[in-house]
Amino acid sequence: MARNNQENGNQSAQSKPKATKAAAKSTKSTAARARNTASRPAAVSPIFKARLDAHREELEQLFMSLYDDQAAFQSLLDSMAAAYADRPADLKRLDKAREADPEWYKRGDMFGMTMYTDLFAGDLKKLADKIPYLKEQKLTYLHLMPLLQMPHPNNDGGYAVEDFDNVDPSLGTNEDLAALTKKLRRAGISLCLDFVMNHTASTHRWAKAAQAGDPEYQDYYFCYDDRTIPDEYDAHVPQVFPNTAPGNFTWNEQMCKWVMTQFYPFQWDLNYRNPKVLVAMMGSVMHLANLGVEVFRIDAVPYIWKELGTNCRNLPTVHTIVRILRIILECVCPAVVLKGEVVMAPKELAAYFGTPEAPECHMLYNVSIMVNLWSALASRDVRLLKAQIDKLDALPENCWFVNYLRCHDDIGWGLDEDVERAIGIDPLKHKEFLYHFYEGAVPGSWSMGELYNYDEATRDARSCGTTASLTGIEKALITHDKPLLEMSVKRDLLMHQAMAFLRGFPMLNCGDEIAQLNGWDYKEDPDRVEDSRNLHRSKFDWDKAALRKKSGTLQNELWKGMEGLREERHDPCFAPDAWVSTWDTFNDAVLAVVRKVEGSVLVGLFNFSELEQHAHLNASEGIIDSPVEADLAPYEARFIHL
Ligand code: GLC
Repeated sequence: MARNNQENGNQSAQSKPKATKAAAKSTKSTAARARNTASRPAAVSPIFKARLDAHREELEQLFMSLYDDQAAFQSLLDSMAAAYADRPADLKRLDKAREADPEWYKRGDMFGMTMYTDLFAGDLKKLADKIPYLKEQKLTYLHLMPLLQMPHPNNDGGYAVEDFDNVDPSLGTNEDLAALTKKLRRAGISLCLDFVMNHTASTHRWAKAAQAGDPEYQDYYFCYDDRTIPDEYDAHVPQVFPNTAPGNFTWNEQMCKWVMTQFYPFQWDLNYRNPKVLVAMMGSVMHLANLGVEVFRIDAVPYIWKELGTNCRNLPTVHTIVRILRIILECVCPAVVLKGEVVMAPKELAAYFGTPEAPECHMLYNVSIMVNLWSALASRDVRLLKAQIDKLDALPENCWFVNYLRCHDDIGWGLDEDVERAIGIDPLKHKEFLYHFYEGAVPGSWSMGELYNYDEATRDARSCGTTASLTGIEKALITHDKPLLEMSVKRDLLMHQAMAFLRGFPMLNCGDEIAQLNGWDYKEDPDRVEDSRNLHRSKFDWDKAALRKKSGTLQNELWKGMEGLREERHDPCFAPDAWVSTWDTFNDAVLAVVRKVEGSVLVGLFNFSELEQHAHLNASEGIIDSPVEADLAPYEARFIHL
């Protein structure tokens, strides 16, 4: 059977990536950016030149290792020069300041929040009016869920992008975004946006051209006439959404071809074997940086390179691309940092930081700790959590994490199976216990969540729900159970306190500061009912938020708890270079983490059970000079200065 990609000029999926013709035919916006350069005097800024000189050889070598295409490389350099020339003066000043303080994102006072623009405020302009609420919480980092042009209503929460260069009209304009980033910066808040590298919406102009039969644009994706190659891929590539979006390929009637869609059928995987794709996407990332975005969450980054016969995850070429991206940012907009979304087994994580000589991401989403915190809470057993913290603490110093409990996604139970087996836990049984526990189906469970993508064949499932609902607050309110409510608030705060104590910085999910509950109304919305992640994606409850200062309210308790987190982090032991380590407590229900900077030691003790617990910490010279004994109340977090 002939491979359609040979007929239409698409790269063979197995061949070594080679150059297609020079990436002459750019997209509208990259062409516009290129025109800007052409009209400019040829003089290159000495600052840009110096930065590029420091990286050019490596950049070229990396690019050529993928494409062996000088013309495409030149177009990348041109678009970098154009982006640098377009970079507003205030952002260039920020670049300079950050070059002098490259570890700014590791400061102890970093405090983040993640939210949807529309659910929180309506649109970008209205969000700008809500900055006082964010300032009240002393946020330094705001992650807004995807806001670029997307199809409606099916857009996977904005992760199906129609235009990487423009804000979705329902949320505002590029000018609104630039104005917002400026206002946020003035308030000391850095904006983080997703850069969805792996795929475009099926309604993106490239995908539309592909569907109209243009072979040039079919080569931006993975398109096949028949099932031969899709079947070969499917033999090795696991499914991302086995239940809500089964399969890795979708039949497109208009093209009469199968197209790779690892996520939803309306999200077409980009073909990074085509240098035009990389050059165009890099153009967009620089364009967004010039609107004032300071952090890019590189979405689903492990998936961006595909290779037949592999599981198409974490391939070495993924790292080549991330390194290219990092170099581009360092040359054009060094104020900007990269946060990787790497929802993978713990052993894959370290590689995404690169090496000190060739760094990749500045920080990663701390998915594995998030999952382990929830596992420890349900099982009242911190052994897996401790083992995971130890693994991450053993990583080189350049590794840094954004710690969190909940975000827009599900909790995928990716625990470390080797560690589980080593301590006598059956990984599958434990996973089943966890997802049933958090859907409230295990006797004694306080939780009110839902399953996500239950897969009968593998018995895999993930969990959804807000922190407040998963920790018991919703159940306690419904059943008017006061003792349960008290315990649940403690549980909620304990989880936040433990999370905020770890290496990296804490990020709240908007609504957690006022104990926002699940939004069950998603079940009545035909556009949202199929995706149970919508359970924890509901409108911000401003009426409840109004109670945050009223003592005796649930909202006030949570609000004060979050203030406590920030205060806790003012301690000198939260300095970026603090030494952080777990400590034995001789009690599986209690986690101990020790932080040390010159002349100061801080011990955090966290009781993950509803019973009183005793912790004993052995002494160790220079860290804990004499043994520590502590009796902890249910779900107590205690901080001890030594
Ligand atoms: C990331 C996002 C998730 C989305 C997926 C596909 O994992 O966090 O919400 O469904 O990417 O873009």
